Parts: sequence; structure tokens; C-alpha cells
Amino acid sequence: MEKKSMLYEGKAKRVYETEHPDQYIVSYKDDATAFNGLKKGTIEGKGVINNQMSNLMMQLLERKGVPTHFIEELSERDTLVKKVSIVPLEVIVRNLAAGSFSARYGVAEGTVFDEPTLEFSYKNDELGDPLLNDRHAIAMKLATREDIEQISELAFQINQIMKEFFQTIGITLVDFKLEFGRTADGSIVLADEISPDTCRFWDSKTGERLDKDRFRRDLGNVEGAYQEMIRRITSAEA
Ligand code: TMP
Repeated sequence: MEKKSMLYEGKAKRVYETEHPDQYIVSYKDDATAFNGLKKGTIEGKGVINNQMSNLMMQLLERKGVPTHFIEELSERDTLVKKVSIVPLEVIVRNLAAGSFSARYGVAEGTVFDEPTLEFSYKNDELGDPLLNDRHAIAMKLATREDIEQISELAFQINQIMKEFFQTIGITLVDFKLEFGRTADGSIVLADEISPDTCRFWDSKTGERLDKDRFRRDLGNVEGAYQEMIRRITSAEA
């Protein structure tokens, strides 16, 4: 399958049409942004790592019964996916307090929750992806009640599968962001990516941050963190 015209360029990926009307190619870049594009940089080799990691995670989830957009890895940076229309919600699951949760509610980073939390943001860069609840999303016709119920159930199921997997490679899955899409037949599937850009990964023993927070917070050794994550994942054969 070959790339045809570019449909969309995001902060970390490009999306291309293919000769197949129901299939797109996503191509992962090394570009990194934070704080809604205010901070810009490059993480050398990130695109290759995120492509491989996201595909391994999507395949693990598929094996456990979660529908995803994944079709086939085409090259180091390119993957064939199902064409979807993205539900404009960022779906965030948290197992421990960190990041914006800690800042917003004054809860110390690392506080472990008794049960995972779930929140939605409106995927809209101009507005800075504001937090919203299910009734807001329905009022704005971003999704139906049924969509939101299905998405919430999938998000918790994905959390359970990923949490258990990462535990086996010495990683605490702190939180992550998912995006879902609707395929031509109307079904909801997991889309976008699962990578150190979209998850917080802490070394279970040392607490070392092995994700994009190293870039966001200028912690150094950003590339090393991405490399360490893909090393552990491939050695466990996700
Ligand atoms: P937050 O604590 O900044 O809200 O981030 C929660 C999770 O979502 C974290 O794992 C990083 C991820 N995330 C994205 O994937 N994209 C974003 O634009 C933001 C702000 C967070």
C-alpha cells in the first residue's frame, strides 16, 4: 500500500490517503510539542519507537478483544490503519495522581487511587483541550450517550490489560490518553497511538520517569527513556 495525498498533519504524525478508500497510512514524526504547542522540539528516533510501540500495544489489545484501527506495520515509521472519523474527545485514565490532576486538585504526584479515574477533554487546540463531562459532550453532539458508555467501558478494559502488561516489565502505568474513532460501518475502535507521548510510565522500583514528561519538564535523557521503554516491551514480546 502506498501513500497518496496527505490529509492531515498533526503535531506528531501525518495521515495519508491510500488507494483503498477505507484505509489510511499514519507516519510518525520525531517532532515533539508540549503545552498545546507552546514548547517545541525534536526527540531523535521517537517516531520509529512510537510507531513500533503503538502497534505492539494495539495488537496486544486486539488479542484481548479490544477493537482497534491497526491493520499492518508498513515500515519503521508508517502504519496502515482503518479509516475512522475521530470522536473529538481525549479520554484520560489515571491510576495514580500526576500532571494536570495533581495541579488542578492539589493531590501529590504519586498518590495511588483506590480505583482508576476517567475524564474527558474536548479535542480542540484553539480552546486548549478543555476538560468536559459526559453531559457536556452529549450537549455538544460530540458523542451519544451510548458512544460514551462504550468508550468508558473500553477505556477501563484497556487500562486493565495495559496495567498488567506493564507490571511484568517493571513499569507503573500512571495515566494515559486515548482517542477513539468511528469506522465506515459505524463501530467504535481505539485509534491514535499508545506511546510514551500519550502515557506516563514510571519505573516501578526507582520511580524514574520513562515518558514525555522528561521533555515537558526538561528532565534530560529524553531519547534514553523512549529507548528503554521499547527495549523492555520488545524483550517481553507484547
Ligand atoms: P495530564 O496530566 O497533563 O492531563 O496528562 C494526562 C495523560 O495524557 C498523560 O499520560 C499524558 C497524556 N496527554 C496526551 O497524550 N496529550 C496531551 O495533549 C496531554 C495534555 C496529555
